[in-house]
Amino acid sequence: MTRQPILAGNWKMHLTKRKASALARDVAATQGMATGRECMVFPTFVHLDHVRRNLKGSNVKLGAQNCWPKKEGAFTGEISPYMLRDMGVDVLLIGHSERRHLMSESDALIVEKVKLGLKAKLEVMLCVGETLEEREANLTFEVLARQLKALKVVKPIYFDKISVAYEPVWAIGTGLTAAPETAQKAHQECRRVIGGVLGPEVAGSIRILYGGSVKPDNVSALLSQPDVDGALVGGASLTIEQFGPILQAAPSA
Ligand code: PGA
Repeated sequence: MTRQPILAGNWKMHLTKRKASALARDVAATQGMATGRECMVFPTFVHLDHVRRNLKGSNVKLGAQNCWPKKEGAFTGEISPYMLRDMGVDVLLIGHSERRHLMSESDALIVEKVKLGLKAKLEVMLCVGETLEEREANLTFEVLARQLKALKVVKPIYFDKISVAYEPVWAIGTGLTAAPETAQKAHQECRRVIGGVLGPEVAGSIRILYGGSVKPDNVSALLSQPDVDGALVGGASLTIEQFGPILQAAPSA
């Protein structure tokens, strides 16, 4: 089964309206109408509309970094997935490690977000990954299995709308990328667990991206691993000088 890679930029709480718009134009120009891979960018909420306008005419998907799992209501300061859909958002990032660890998001909350995001007709990218302490205590696979259980709520009609990003917490923003073989082992395990949760067909077709200090000089080695189907890029997605080569990287031979 060939899985089309996804190259995604998580812009987090960075850039100004003008810089995000310019970067979106550069990404669209670099990616053009390229086939064979998918590209998506996740700007902060207040830049979504500007970025959307600057991506127009390209096949770069627009992503949002979070949502609140209610359609509407008295939730001051929160944003519904339906509102995001209405804004032209295509993809929703759920369970990023910064949300899990800095904003204390629980697995239970993440399940609700996955469920409503899909119902609102958005694609959902679920992020999973272990902390350094968990890795050192040999708990990596246990943590992945627990976090991937959130996919239990995905109904068959949404099977082609989900992807997973494996992002070891110790590799995010630290410059410590997982060695390609280390990433491969975790990805293989994620795929095995997904097989148990959603069946072998989904396990074979779902894209599992790697994230954590992906740079132009390590992306090809990561993409060459059999179970690594793309990259979710933070810091290196903030300039076209770094993100451009990542978007065009091919797996190393
Ligand atoms: P990084 O972030 O590439 O800066 O490590 C990745 C992420 O958090 O998605």
